[in-house]
Amino acid sequence: MSNVIFGFTFDAQILFKMFKSHKKIIIAIDGYSSSGKSTLAKEIAKLLDYKYIDSGAMYRAVTLFALRNKLIDNINHKVNIEKLQSFINQIHINFKYNSETNNQETYLNNENVEAEIRKMNVSNNVSFISKIGFVRKKMVSFQQEMGKEKGIVMDGRDIGTVVFPEAELKVFMNANAEVRAKRRFQELKENNVDVSYNEILENVKKRDHIDETRDESPLKKANDSIELDNSNMNRQEQLEWIIGLVKKRIN
Ligand code: DC
Repeated sequence: MSNVIFGFTFDAQILFKMFKSHKKIIIAIDGYSSSGKSTLAKEIAKLLDYKYIDSGAMYRAVTLFALRNKLIDNINHKVNIEKLQSFINQIHINFKYNSETNNQETYLNNENVEAEIRKMNVSNNVSFISKIGFVRKKMVSFQQEMGKEKGIVMDGRDIGTVVFPEAELKVFMNANAEVRAKRRFQELKENNVDVSYNEILENVKKRDHIDETRDESPLKKANDSIELDNSNMNRQEQLEWIIGLVKKRIN
């Protein structure tokens, strides 16, 4: 007997064994922008019946809030730190599952901002917001709260290093910048976002650099994280790869 998940076929017995009667763990998936973290994270969360949290969406939502309230200059990316700090407790982010799109959607102060936070003006500014210490502190404590009962897959940049240093499974994903930009371009095209490939490639490289070199929780592989370069892997191969790792940890 077999089950089909995201178009892939798995043996039902294996699925059953993974779903039930095993201890719940935390899975941290970190890596470079557009390295396919969220695709893999969503699929493994679905398979295990775990919560999936896209931590990048939270930094994007704060960035949207800052842009709307003119707390960041869209041209030179200068942030009005004092004002943002005074507003920080008015920023409430949560996620709701949309069964129609089969997607977890991001809400900012009760407004669905899922589409808005994926736009280029947010992508171009998010690194400048996500490097601010008090923003990170607030997001991290919210993320830790969501993972208190385990049974969670979270993707981001500092999940294995800062948010859940005790996570049972840590994965660090990478792929070359051109492959990542191509994937992102495809994704945005499918969502009718008008943007060029070169613009995306430039944004991907710029964000890599800022994410890696910032003072606050820079993007880096945790010592006990397992690296995955998926430049030449398809979705099924990646999913099978992570299933192998999960099996060893839930038994
Ligand atoms: O995963 P993403 O590309 O949607 O993330 C958007 C930005 O948020 C990214 O440029 C870096 C930042 N980020 C972060 O600093 N820490 C995280 N845990 C997740 C994302």
